[in-house]
Parts: sequence; structure tokens; C-alpha cells
Amino acid sequence: MSVQTPLRLLRLRLPSGPVSRVTQRRFQSSQGRPRKSKIGLYITAGALVLGGGYVYSHADKFGLSQSPSTTGTALKKLSKPAEKDYQAVYEAIAEKLEEGAENYDDGSFGPVLVRLAWHASGTYDKETGTGGSNGATMRFAPESDHGANAGLKVARDIMESIHKRFPWISYSDLWTLGGVVAIQEMQGPTISWRPGRSDKDVAACSPDGRLPDASKDQRHLRDIFYRMGWNDQEIVALSGAHALGRGHPDRSGYSGPWTFSPTMFTNDFFKLLLDEKWQWKKWNGPEQHEDKKTQSLMMLPTDMALIKDKSFKKWVDIYANDQEKFFEDFGNAFSRLLELGVPFEEGTKPMRFKTLNA
Ligand code: HEM
Repeated sequence: MSVQTPLRLLRLRLPSGPVSRVTQRRFQSSQGRPRKSKIGLYITAGALVLGGGYVYSHADKFGLSQSPSTTGTALKKLSKPAEKDYQAVYEAIAEKLEEGAENYDDGSFGPVLVRLAWHASGTYDKETGTGGSNGATMRFAPESDHGANAGLKVARDIMESIHKRFPWISYSDLWTLGGVVAIQEMQGPTISWRPGRSDKDVAACSPDGRLPDASKDQRHLRDIFYRMGWNDQEIVALSGAHALGRGHPDRSGYSGPWTFSPTMFTNDFFKLLLDEKWQWKKWNGPEQHEDKKTQSLMMLPTDMALIKDKSFKKWVDIYANDQEKFFEDFGNAFSRLLELGVPFEEGTKPMRFKTLNA
């Protein structure tokens, strides 16, 4: 489907000077075909402001609420789905990442699917065993209306179209699997994933305030992440997901991408955090930092806390210098994040999915 928007006309070329150690790679096609999106050095200044807002308010133009063709075995009720059945769901999601995304953000729905999986899981409270991905309670208001979840309807609608094709999978398994697909297809590490989540009703919705508030400092980060059971190293590793995607003024209020390749999973978030000079952005929006050189990248106050705090910074240094270590630690932490509070059946084996181009 083609969507006519003026956004493409607004794309600006960023200054091409070296950005220190940062990989200025383009998003490689997962199937060897040319990417529809121009990312990497091409960051759309206009889209910083307009992109998310336009698409969010025109979601059905982008095919987000369309029913996909529902054919073949996918629709069958499966009494005991096997790994190959989940691999089929994986592939269906992977094929959706760029479908209709030509004029959406940076050309991929991958980042917003990662955010959905994380926000579904990051409500976990280890003391009470409540929250977490089991339940997919963000299907319901009030949880879908929590400020932190603004904009995630885009992702839930994509998942809805997949669910129509594979109605045997729970939404909670589907949303977490969506995060796995997005990370892997955006060249990130392989993520072990286990099925077994079941959906709950509205009564199980998490209370507001369980997800982090980007305007806060390191104490808040620790309050939120320790509540889920993480340590400092894991907080930093998970934060590396901000290599992907961007802030949207109409969602969180923040604006802009963290890296020059926001649809490619890299350790660039850490490199940029260390190598660039960050200054307060002068604007009417919430307090955020921008890089001095291009003024096109952003850091949230909570991102800056990762280099202000000694114990966090130690890990930023390590991950900036060792992408392999980052991939390994992120992969393990993200896999565990998606499993917080999930009562798996004994003996449920982790699955590792093949990417589309494998
Ligand atoms: C450390 C605390 C964190 C804070 C305060 C935070 C805050 C935010 C904010 C304000 C946005 C912008 C949302 C928008 O306007 O669309 C965002 C986007 C994003 N966050 Fe985080 N986040 C945190 C941790 C994480 C973690 C742990 C992950 C995943 C493991 C993650 C993944 C993402 C992704 C992929 C996006 C981009 C979404 C898009 O482009 O649509 N974040 N985050």
C-alpha cells in the first residue's frame, strides 16, 4: 500500500563528518533486497516532529488495522504447537516489519515492537509476583492508557493482524515473540524464547507507575529495575536497546533517535553516549540532551544517568568497546525480561528462531 505524505521530501542529509567510533552502517536487508528505507546517515529532521504523529493518527492508512489474508494451516487450532509453528509466526511478524512502513519513522516497525515487548514485561514486581508479560494486560484500558504506553497501539495493531492468522497463540506469547523477531531481524543477537504465557483479563492490569520515567535520575532507575530483580550491569545492558528507534513528541514528548542507524541493533548507543558532547536541547519540550555536532540525536535524562553514575558507567565503557559482550549480555537479559513472572510448564525448552535470511 502506498501512502502519500510529504515526509520523504523533508529528509535531510546529516553532516557526514566522522562520528568517532560509531558505525555508520545502513540497515542491511534481511533478504538481500534493497531496503525501502533510507536510514543511517539520512535522518529526517522533519520526521522528528511529524513522523510518529502522522502515522499514529493515520494508523489504518498504514494497514495497521487491516486483516491479513488468513489461509492454510495457520488458522487451525493447534493443541500442542511445535517449534516449527512458532517459527511460522516468527516469519509472519518478520515480514510485517517493513510492510507499509515506507513513510513510518525510519522505515521499520521493529523498534516499536521491541518497546511493546519491553513495556508488557517491565511491569513485573518480584515481591508480589504481579505484572510481567504473562497476561498481555496492555490490551485493556487502564493499562493501555498509562502515559508510558502512549504510541504502543501501533505495535498492538500489527500484532493483532498476526493474531488473526495464528489465533492459537496467546497475545502474551505473541507480543514477546514480536520483540525477539524485531531484535533478530534488526541484526541483533539471537534471543532464546519459551512459549507458555496465557492471557489474563482486565482485573490483572498493572498499576500505573511501574515503568521508568525518563525525566528522572539513577536512583529512580535502580528503584524501577531492582523491583524487577535486575542488577546494575543488566540495567545498562538493557538500556542499550536505545540504539533502536526514537522519541516521538506525540507519544512520550521526547524527540529524535539515539543513533544514526535506528533500525539496526548495535552498541552505538554506548559509543555515542561516551564520544559525543551532549548539551541540553533548547526547545519547548521536556528536558532532553542533543549531540552538539549534529543536533539530530538525543539522550534522555535517564540515559545520561548511565554515565553520571560510576557503577553504571563501568558497563557503558565495557559495552562501548566490546559489541560481542554487549550482544551476549543483552541477549540473556532480554530473554529473561520477557520471562519475568511467567509460570512455564516444567521442561519447557527454549527455542531459537532462524532469521528470514538464514
Ligand atoms: C532505562 C529506562 C528506560 C526509559 C526511561 C525509557 C524511556 C523511553 C522513552 C521516553 C522512549 C520514547 C518513546 C516514544 O516517544 O515513542 C523510549 C523508546 C524506546 N525504548 Fe526505552 N526506556 C527505557 C528502557 C528501555 C528498555 C529496557 C528497552 C528494551 C529492552 C527499551 C526500548 C525502547 C525502544 C526500542 C524505543 C524506541 C521505540 C520507537 O521507536 O517507537 N527502553 N524509551
